[in-house]
This record gives sequence, C-alpha cells and structure tokens, in this order.
Amino acid sequence: MLDAMGLRLWSPAGAAAAPAPAASPAAAPAPASVPVLVTAPGAVPAPATLGARPDVSALGWPALREAVAGCRACGLCAGRTQTVFGTGSEQAQWMVVGEAPGEQEDRQGEPFVGPAGQLLDRMLAALELTRAAEAAVPPARRVYIANTLKCRPPRNRNPEPAELAQCEPYLARQVELLQPRLILAMGRFAVRALLGSEEPIGRLRGRVHRYRGVPLIVTYHPAYLLRNLPDKARAWEDLCLAAGVAEAAG
Ligand code: URA
Repeated sequence: MLDAMGLRLWSPAGAAAAPAPAASPAAAPAPASVPVLVTAPGAVPAPATLGARPDVSALGWPALREAVAGCRACGLCAGRTQTVFGTGSEQAQWMVVGEAPGEQEDRQGEPFVGPAGQLLDRMLAALELTRAAEAAVPPARRVYIANTLKCRPPRNRNPEPAELAQCEPYLARQVELLQPRLILAMGRFAVRALLGSEEPIGRLRGRVHRYRGVPLIVTYHPAYLLRNLPDKARAWEDLCLAAGVAEAAG
C-alpha cells in the first residue's frame, strides 16, 4: 500500500516496530527508535501512524504545514486541539524560536498569543519588529515565530527529549525555507533543540552562535521574564545584540 502511494517505510536496522498508541499523552513512553516515512520530493506526506514521521527535508511551506498538521510522531498528538505551526511572514529576516504551545496557543493555533506572547510582541515592537506579514512592513522588520514543539504538552509540562527529537526536523525545515538573517532562541528548550546544548541561558547569552550557518542569539524565554523582572534588562541587551547582528548580516 505504501509502495502504491509512492512511499517507502524506512526503519533503522534492528529498530523495534512503531510503539502502539499510548493511553495518555503524559504517560506516553518515548519511542526508542522511530521510523521515518520517506516521500517523493515535493509530495504531500500521507497522515502518519503513531510513531512515524514523514521526511520533510524537501517540502515547501504548504506541504510542510500540512505534514505538521497531520503529524502523529509522538504521544502529544493525542492531547492537542490543533498543531501550532508558526506565524509571520515567509520573507521575514528575523526568526524567533520558543518552546511549545500553551493552552491559548493550542486553542488559537498561533504561537505566543498568551501573556508571554504579549511581552514578546512588546519587546519586538521596541525594535520596530513585528510578526505582521503586511506588505508595508519591510522584510528586515518582519519576524517569523515558531516553537520547538508544534503540539502542546499536557498541563504545559516540559518537552521530553524524544518529543524534541521528533519535532526538530520541522523546525529545521522552517529555518531552511525561511533563510533568516538571525535566529533568536528563547529559553532552554529552544537552545537544546537548536544548539544541542544543556548549558544555562546565562552562560550562552551575549555571544553569537550558529545554527546551520545562521547567526543565533540566545536569550531568556518571555514566560521566565514575566516571573523574573530583573532579567528583562539582560533580555533587552540580547535583543540589541541580535539587532546589531541582523543589521551586519544584511
Ligand atoms: N511559550 C512558547 O514557548 N511558545 C508559545 O507559543 C507560547 C508560550
């Protein structure tokens, strides 16, 4: 059947079969090794069975969005209202990466629409940046916003390593398609997904990192800043550094 659809099921040698759906997303065991559905380049992947993820490395924006919407690669799909793909202009020169959708994002299908998002929008506005994808806004002032996870973890718990690993190819393809001048990685899970680092934010901020050649600045997550007001000044320094790097990359 997969052959007939132009799909090949690839599984690493010795890998176990895809795990059966878990009863509860919170209790879903991390798959030890996960098969990947390989599609013909440009084809829209068929909805995957739990534990399988389509190969998205050649997809354009619409097919990528569709692949995310149909994703069942980990147990988080069982608890979501909808996936949260990303928002902003596909011509944006800035990319902001957060952690995962919360309750409001899960309901509305857009990242950062709750209190943390309002703070993020204010921080961006201070640099005359916006998620609005209007023609009047030049690409240098536009921001594309995405999360490391496209589905809400139950009760907003921290993302698990297997969930981050399953979702990373979606984010990687978003970066490839967008080709931003700068990535702002907010919080430790964005850092973990993009830099593979477990170091504290405080040790990583203040310098330029790279993700697949794109300059990347590390800063605090806005939800953290809402609870730790003194670090807002440091986050502002990070934004100013990011602005300088984006400008220099132009
Ligand atoms: N926090 C995130 O990291 N992302 C969102 O979309 C909302 C809150």
